[in-house]
Amino acid sequence: MEPSVVRTVAQLDDALMPSRLASSPVAYVPTLGALHDGHASLMRVARRLGDVVVASIFVNPTQFGPGEDLQKYPRSLDADLDMCSRENVDIVYVPAVETIYPEGTQGITIDPGPAGDLLEGQRRPQHFRGVLTVVAKLFAMVRPSHAVFGEKDYQQLVLVRAMVHDLCVATDIVGVPTVREPDGLALSSRNRFLDPVQRLAATALARALFAGQSAGSAGAEGVMSAARAVLEASAGVEVDYLALTAPDLSEPVEHGPARLLGAVRVGTTRLIDNVSVSLGIDSP
Ligand code: PAF
Repeated sequence: MEPSVVRTVAQLDDALMPSRLASSPVAYVPTLGALHDGHASLMRVARRLGDVVVASIFVNPTQFGPGEDLQKYPRSLDADLDMCSRENVDIVYVPAVETIYPEGTQGITIDPGPAGDLLEGQRRPQHFRGVLTVVAKLFAMVRPSHAVFGEKDYQQLVLVRAMVHDLCVATDIVGVPTVREPDGLALSSRNRFLDPVQRLAATALARALFAGQSAGSAGAEGVMSAARAVLEASAGVEVDYLALTAPDLSEPVEHGPARLLGAVRVGTTRLIDNVSVSLGIDSP
């Protein structure tokens, strides 16, 4: 069945009324649009979790900094709706900027706390304030029992989990592993900006992260030097950061689970990716 496309809060409320009256689980996939197979995997997880699946498509202006690619951000509504239909999404919410920010964008916002200043937050100062603010607004509109986010934007996932916990929001946050091309490149809406030479160079980030992951038994220094060695040997990739953290983005412990995160520039395109690492433990 074709999904219902709704654009206002009143239309969304009407579409969700039967499931709210029946207290059925509502699984939600928030997106910026420009959907790819990574989003399809989020929708499939949502389909398993909810009697009703809602996806939203909203290019949120407040998470783009000055000089970032808000205008350039790819918009492909017809193709996005086709994907929602293929993945059996029930309701697609496509709000206007005025629906999300009726009083403009200078109102009350969500402070992401210290973890919002690390990594991506250090390079993109207002980014996570914009992300958490829009996610909080969308959650208030959709009122989902579950919301599904990709691990590809790992810091976002950690901060959304923290927000939901700290603000006692009754939504279960579900993280879904990154979908990759056969050569390891993480799927991203930004990959479409890469020319063939850059596309090849871009695999260096995933190769570096997997090299680091394989070196987990050698400890933190072994992980970092294995990952750095791959990036240093790769042409056409400018490293923005490479960081090893605990799963909650704090300092990694010597033994146990950790996260290796990286950001690179390939031409004018900025790519991020991350993998789990088991520190001090032989990888399987
Ligand atoms: O990850 C994204 O697509 C966006 O940051 C989100 C969560 C939809 C908020 O605009």
